[in-house]
Amino acid sequence: MSPVSDSTNRVIPGPQEPEEKTYHPSDGLFTDAHVPDFDAYLALYKKSTEEPEEFWADVAQEFYWKKPASGPMLQYNFDVNKGNIYIKFMEGAKTNICYNVLDRNVHERNLGEKVAYYWEGNSPDHHQTITYNQLLRNVCRCANALKLLGVKKGDRVAIYLPMIPELVYTMLACARIGAVHSIVFAGFSSESLCERIMDAQCNILVTADGVYRGDKLINLKKIASEALERCKESMALCVQKCVVVKHHAFRTSSDASNKLQTPWDESCDIWWDDLMDGVSDKCEPEWMDSEDPLFILYTSGSTGKPKGVVHTVTGYMLYTSLTFKYVFDYHHDDVYWCTADIGWITGHSYITYGPLANGATSVLFEGVPVYPHVGRLWEIIEKYGVSKFYTAPTAIRLLMKYGREPLQRYDLSSLRVLGTVGEPINPEAWLWYYDVVGQQRCPVIDTFWQTETGGHVLTPLPAATPLKPGSATCPFFGVQPAILNEHGEEVEGEAEGYLVFRKPWPGIMRGVYGNQERFESTYFRKFPGYYVTGDGCRRDKDGYYWITGRIDDMLNVSGHLLSTAEVEAALSEHPSVAEAAVVSRPHAVKGECLYCFVTLKDHKEFNRSLMEELKRKVREKIGPIATPDFIQNAPGLPKTRSGKIMRRVLRQIARNEKDLGDLSTLADPKVVEVLFSQRCEAAA
Ligand code: WT7
Repeated sequence: MSPVSDSTNRVIPGPQEPEEKTYHPSDGLFTDAHVPDFDAYLALYKKSTEEPEEFWADVAQEFYWKKPASGPMLQYNFDVNKGNIYIKFMEGAKTNICYNVLDRNVHERNLGEKVAYYWEGNSPDHHQTITYNQLLRNVCRCANALKLLGVKKGDRVAIYLPMIPELVYTMLACARIGAVHSIVFAGFSSESLCERIMDAQCNILVTADGVYRGDKLINLKKIASEALERCKESMALCVQKCVVVKHHAFRTSSDASNKLQTPWDESCDIWWDDLMDGVSDKCEPEWMDSEDPLFILYTSGSTGKPKGVVHTVTGYMLYTSLTFKYVFDYHHDDVYWCTADIGWITGHSYITYGPLANGATSVLFEGVPVYPHVGRLWEIIEKYGVSKFYTAPTAIRLLMKYGREPLQRYDLSSLRVLGTVGEPINPEAWLWYYDVVGQQRCPVIDTFWQTETGGHVLTPLPAATPLKPGSATCPFFGVQPAILNEHGEEVEGEAEGYLVFRKPWPGIMRGVYGNQERFESTYFRKFPGYYVTGDGCRRDKDGYYWITGRIDDMLNVSGHLLSTAEVEAALSEHPSVAEAAVVSRPHAVKGECLYCFVTLKDHKEFNRSLMEELKRKVREKIGPIATPDFIQNAPGLPKTRSGKIMRRVLRQIARNEKDLGDLSTLADPKVVEVLFSQRCEAAA
């Protein structure tokens, strides 16, 4: 491919479909790019796949090793027919990721006075600057405090915190002493939190009294206490201590603290400040084996029960560090901002570990995009001079609705690279991001990856990859994608099918916590020899990859994966519900939303208040992100003769697609007509 650019920086390599027009805005912008052009990308990619030992040994050289690797770089088995699935990277080497992302910057690279984070609160009046020196000291204090509570290497610590500096301190403190952090997004319900605490058998929970999200006050401690109560009821209380951060906003605003009733259990709860009082700010790291676990992060599973995805120290460290450097073309004078929450993998990899490993300066943002006004994100970009910006398609679509005017009030000329993640980005949102936010100057980097992949696996590189709106383009170094047909055969060239990977890269997950069987059956059993992503994918004539969406019973709401099964389970708990089936329906801002069919028990009435109760039920069981948009009364569900619900048909009803195809396998085809006639037009 040798694209030529015209005056608008659009590259037109010959006749093509409109959506396959390519863009290459990097000319002249990236004079010092790490990967200056596509040929350089191809050369490095070739090295990464043909000489992986040398490639990763070069990367590893930049890090500190207490004991260097001596054995093989990579050992693995991806084939269920040949025994257990496992991945081991640089096993036997000893290091500490916290040391590498903090001490190494302070002591070896002289970055102690450099800003690690500009913390920007929900309210524009709240902000704080944290240097690498300060970060290291705070992390060490927290590490020593956790030790005082008895936390040891291998113990699991649950973290349920908003986007405040203490979240970063706690996760890095765990990493420093070899404890395994399990961060639960602070928007999850008490039931979800309890389920995750119990699954990982956490001894400690770290939370906060409360937080404002926009103008909404959330009583986090109340939810956390309810979660611990629930654990107790299940006779499975493992949490001995609950550490509670007094949130900045409540320290500084007298009216907020009045509104908040913080439940308190003297035998368990302890204020963060009391715990840290007088604790030393020096702490020797625990030297970890490469394959010791670093963290567990739960992600939805198609059976309904979330899976605890396990990542280990060295592979994750090298991979997040390297992807951060290349994918954002990171340089030392950058100010980088990822708007994700650290409660998701995006925040783990690209707010904490990846940027810190590179000694980067990041914005850490607590708030929401449209509070206190719709220009908040642009205001923050101007305030800190953000050069690399990373957000989600759902946020872009939300902000598009307000037009250009809110952006025109701010100076966005510092921007160099725009990233997106979480779901396929529709070309309209891509073009708006490119034209309006980036002023046609900044490449839009559509990064495809998963909680399981640890870091980016399909992605353009800013100066190197000609872009096509809607395509995550090409594999990152060391990543070997393939597309399989129904029979599990690799299809070459232009093709569509299942996206899989042939070999591990260092950042891939190592297992499902406490459940090897589920690890193997979810990702490796369908097509022996491959890691199966669960996404559909098309490869075009230029070899570019286009993600077409999930092909299992999962859906992606605002960039967050949910399983239809977990929502169905929540609905079915309501005493009036006999059966529920949930499918996805396209949504202008969220990408997809939930469309629920519920069959009621005899003599139960379907009305507005029931609908509200059902929504509340789902919010309580899972969290606000899972709130259904549509709930339809379904006197019957389309089932096969063997009793299996035909979701394909329900999806078509939800989307008002009349051409239903073959219904001969249905036990009672009439039910489809009834459901069609009663389908919801407007959101509930
Ligand atoms: C699923 C993983 C990776 C962090 C956020 C989500 C979808 C993610 C893209 C993209 C198309 C994408 C996939 C994937 N997805 N990024 N750039 N283009 N789809 O992490 O919750 O583990 O979800 O998100 O369906 O499998 P996650």
